[in-house]
Amino acid sequence: MAVNDTIQIALIGAGGMGQGDARNSTSLDKVKLVAACDLYTGRLERCKEIWGKDIFTTRDYREVLARPDIDAVIIATPDHWHARITKDALAAGKDVYCEKPMVQKIEEGQGVIDAQKASNGKIVQIGSQYASSLVFQKAKELLEQGAIGKLNMVDAWLDRNTAMGAWQYTIPTDASPSTVDWDRFLGQAPKRPFDATRFFRWRNYKDYGTGLAGDLYVHLLTGLHVVTGAMGPSRIFATGGLRYWKDGRDVPDVMLATMDYPDFTFTLKVNFKSGVPQEDFGFRFTGSEGVMNVSMAECTVAKTPREKAPGNTADQFPAAVKEKFLEDYYKQYPMWQPKTENLPGNEMVRFAPPRSYSAHLEHHRNFINAVRSRKPFFEDAVFGFRTAGPALLTGVSYDERKVCGWDAENLKRTA
Ligand SMILES: NC(=O)c1ccc[n+]([C@@H]2O[C@H](COP(=O)([O-])OP(=O)(O)OC[C@H]3O[C@@H](n4cnc5c(N)ncnc54)[C@H](O)[C@@H]3O)[C@@H](O)[C@H]2O)c1
Repeated sequence: MAVNDTIQIALIGAGGMGQGDARNSTSLDKVKLVAACDLYTGRLERCKEIWGKDIFTTRDYREVLARPDIDAVIIATPDHWHARITKDALAAGKDVYCEKPMVQKIEEGQGVIDAQKASNGKIVQIGSQYASSLVFQKAKELLEQGAIGKLNMVDAWLDRNTAMGAWQYTIPTDASPSTVDWDRFLGQAPKRPFDATRFFRWRNYKDYGTGLAGDLYVHLLTGLHVVTGAMGPSRIFATGGLRYWKDGRDVPDVMLATMDYPDFTFTLKVNFKSGVPQEDFGFRFTGSEGVMNVSMAECTVAKTPREKAPGNTADQFPAAVKEKFLEDYYKQYPMWQPKTENLPGNEMVRFAPPRSYSAHLEHHRNFINAVRSRKPFFEDAVFGFRTAGPALLTGVSYDERKVCGWDAENLKRTA
């Protein structure tokens, strides 16, 4: 650690999220960005504009990892580089904040977990920030207190309706093989000639990204696992299609998935041409005694009063049978009035943090606290793979058109 207790960080992958991550991190007390690595010259220039011309910049992340003045790295490259750079960073003795999804492919998950174990106590925190959200923590507390009774189903959605939301990111006017290190970007991905669209809109291609599965479902799984403490599902099925953004992408823009957890059923939905103004993100937790709605901004609980009587269909029976039945029935349920029962206003609970509150900033605060205290935040490599594994299996289910199996205990695909 550098002088005066300052944590010195480096950014690897300085695009949209990387710049946002580094801004959040350096807004915290005694955190300094000293190096940035990226494969597009313009983004390295932008980093110097933001963090000063003296920061070290490079296209080769190994040069960052070799520097002894760096305590921790933020990895915000495209998904196909996450596992490799995380493992190399841990081997180089750095703490790691890696953006979600932790891995691009299921087969990479165990390797990252093993690398964390072998790292002699290095911190790994995955960048799915809902893990640090006060709203989700409150929802967890309410669920544990029995606010909605016994959970039986959770529905989650993240719908969008904008070009940016559908990953149509800007391609800079100076994009060319001289400003972009195309071969390094490809890494282990199939070789092909320079293509600025693939480089700047990599999410749209399976060679580099993870589609809706790893990009957005992983957030929904993080929220679910935080609130319920669940380990993962056993069966996963997804369907959908490319319905609107037919721009050459090879991933769907509408996807619906279902997962079987031991005690509840989970549905996930993303629609990139959904009719919502911009973005709509939410969860509905349904229990035996109520419903809890959770969004980025708030959590509300609506209690459903238990029925005082089961109701009946005696009117379909002959008059004598009906009469006899109702005589007994009203003895058993004297308070019950068919159809006219006046349900009291549902008991509501509402929790909302201050408007200025940012889960993203809190997530970076948790990471920096972990780096200082050496006490890891709970969203480590195991938690990261518990969410990434099933999320990625929705992509596999979609591609292979089959139900996939997942062993949540041992973190392995079973079918
Ligand atoms: N937590 C969130 O809410 C959230 C939101 C957006 C993105 N993300 C994640 O952040 C990551 C980055 O997404 P983005 O939107 O910033 O993408 P982006 O395309 O804007 O930025 C990626 C950057 O990585 C660079 N890069 C590519 N390969 C590299 C390598 N081998 N070494 C160094 N740099 C490399 C590219 O040049 C590019 O500038 C993704 O994994 C994404 O899933 C997370």
